[in-house]
Amino acid sequence: MCMMHRRGASVHTMFAVTAARIDADDPLAGLELGERAEPAVPDGWTTVTVKAAALNHHDVWTLRGVGISPDRLPIVLGCDAAGLDSDGNEVVVHAVIANPDAGGGDETLDPGRSLLSERHDGTFAERVAVPRRNLVPKPAALSFAQAACLPTAYLTAYRMLFGRARLEPGATVLVQGAGGGVATALILLGRAAGYRIWATSRSEAKRDRAVELGADQAFPAGTRLPDRVDAVMETVGEATWGHSLRALRPGGTIVTCGATSGAMPPADLNRIFFLQLSVVGSTMGTRDQLGRLVRFCEQTGVRPLIDRTMPLDQARDGLAAMISGELFGKVVLTV
Ligand SMILES: NC(=O)c1ccc[n+]([C@@H]2O[C@H](COP(=O)([O-])OP(=O)(O)OC[C@H]3O[C@@H](n4cnc5c(N)ncnc54)[C@H](OP(=O)(O)O)[C@@H]3O)[C@@H](O)[C@H]2O)c1
Repeated sequence: MCMMHRRGASVHTMFAVTAARIDADDPLAGLELGERAEPAVPDGWTTVTVKAAALNHHDVWTLRGVGISPDRLPIVLGCDAAGLDSDGNEVVVHAVIANPDAGGGDETLDPGRSLLSERHDGTFAERVAVPRRNLVPKPAALSFAQAACLPTAYLTAYRMLFGRARLEPGATVLVQGAGGGVATALILLGRAAGYRIWATSRSEAKRDRAVELGADQAFPAGTRLPDRVDAVMETVGEATWGHSLRALRPGGTIVTCGATSGAMPPADLNRIFFLQLSVVGSTMGTRDQLGRLVRFCEQTGVRPLIDRTMPLDQARDGLAAMISGELFGKVVLTV
């Protein structure tokens, strides 16, 4: 911790990775690494000493100005963290800042919901302030780096598969864009739950890795599949949406949580009503679902797939890899 002087008063500071400006075309231009004031800790909140923090596409969207207004900046990036609470307990941080009562018992449905790094400083820092209720115990079986992958990508995948698609074991599930953080989580969790996972990727190397990870088969993006599937898990958006609709059996379900390649594909309404397809949105998950996800990992032996681990001060390189799409699994920053 350092001391910084502001308007005559001394302020404790910490190292942090901050979105200082928005640049839609060159997201890394607005990235700043350096000293920043320690987080304020409102009533009912506590401070977590961050040991590991995972990158998400959300961090790139923030730097591009998607989902955040310029008046929120500068803000510390990062949704995901695992670390130590103020008593030294090992914890995973739930990233959804919301009131379950305002969401009918489900905080993801609170209209005032935000994620860490949207309204409150995020996790790419030595310390982060979070509501006490957002702390979930980290099991010893998971490393800090593995645990840091769970709150966004893995929780989103968990809710898509088990909360929103509600598939029976043995169902066939198509995962689009196999290499992504959410996509690799879908393959690992879906396989462990007894689904037949088919995956697509633009890259042959990523298709091979998807099969190594547990996918039954992997196909080039857009390929005609051997059979119709019960459900499609979508994070890619425009580039794969048409294929996702064509891949479904009558009565099938498409669960979407993201649109990396664009959010406005043709709706193809004829297909949706004629084949009685369901299009279901999904976002993050509840704290209780995060607790069950942690237990799912403990019980099944599933461990998050980490593409690379790097020190917090090299966050720029990790974000660049995410922007260029040359990842298979999660990037984790260690503190
Ligand atoms: N709603 C939520 O709660 C929530 C939570 C987490 C993430 N998300 C969203 O879900 C999306 C994925 O997140 P992530 O963190 O998993 O991102 P990521 O790791 O950067 O995923 C990128 C993957 O998307 C595929 N892709 C990207 N552009 C493509 C294109 N033009 N054509 C085909 N495939 C393309 C690539 O698959 P291949 O290279 O294998 O083809 C790549 O592996 C993001 O948009 C993110 O904002 C939403």
